[in-house]
Amino acid sequence: MKKTCALLLLAVLCLPLLLAGCGDAAVPASPAEKKDLIVVGFSQVGAESDWRKANTLSMQTALSPENGYRLILDDAQQKQERQITAIRNFINQGVDYIVLAPTTERGWDTVLTEAKAAGIPVIIVDRMIEITDTSLFTCWIGSDFRKEGGTAVSWLEKRFGQEPLNIVHLQGNIGSSAQIGRTEGLDAGLAAHENWHLAFRASGDFTQAKGQELMEGVLADGTDFNVIYSENDNMAYGAIDALKKAGLTPGRDVTLIAFDSSSTALHMILSGEISLDVECNPLHGPRVQSIIELLEKGETPPKFTYVEETYFDESNLTEEIISSRGY
Ligand code: AHR
Repeated sequence: MKKTCALLLLAVLCLPLLLAGCGDAAVPASPAEKKDLIVVGFSQVGAESDWRKANTLSMQTALSPENGYRLILDDAQQKQERQITAIRNFINQGVDYIVLAPTTERGWDTVLTEAKAAGIPVIIVDRMIEITDTSLFTCWIGSDFRKEGGTAVSWLEKRFGQEPLNIVHLQGNIGSSAQIGRTEGLDAGLAAHENWHLAFRASGDFTQAKGQELMEGVLADGTDFNVIYSENDNMAYGAIDALKKAGLTPGRDVTLIAFDSSSTALHMILSGEISLDVECNPLHGPRVQSIIELLEKGETPPKFTYVEETYFDESNLTEEIISSRGY
């Protein structure tokens, strides 16, 4: 009797397995269960800013096993040498695609020649690279950083007209497209306006800690300024902390301009601390996914794609807009 019960129990337990093996009646395996995931090596700059974290999350969400991908993420901690090592590792692992968010524009020729020799397509995201042989990468998608700088300069012109401006300029990491473009934008504004004066300029490497440190130095030196042009949100947060510690009120005593438009910064526009935030969109995951889908079908994506971006100030921003955005 005991033996009969045990056999019955076994049959009940095995029934789903037997059914799953029944040809047409079986539930098809999800991409995650299949072995043929597309393997993507992603060399990321680092985790220096809210923008960067949103960018990493966007890539992880889009290039997920559920969508048919295995993403190998490498965080280079803002160091180009680490990115070069990561790309070499991806080549050795025989990944299907390499995605590179480059720290700086220069210095990619050798390693991308190696990727090309290995037959691995390279997709560049976010910042641009400067390279003579453009066949070394498949395509690029990212922001027009020069245009972002121009947007900030036009806004300053409209807001202040002929008033004298003493500008503190917090730069991103030197040699990155985001720094080069936004700095070129401001330089064009400085050259075009006699009433604009550069009070201070240094790199805060896109981090909050360095933004604060630089601003504390500016305040300690007694530099005269009424505008801060911060090349990203996180350095602006650091600058705001320094201003408050010094008893100043951002937005009233100083006009703060930032780039990225992360949700924390947009809330600071509503509270009056930041006056202008020029958008830099980090949600490249689905865009890279579409590019890979095209390549998988044997089609050719456009070589260069600029994403659409806008700006936010008190005139066009609401809570609803902030909560409708993905970062
Ligand atoms: O390349 C995009 C820039 O890099 C963002 O403005 C900044 O926040 C990030 O670190």
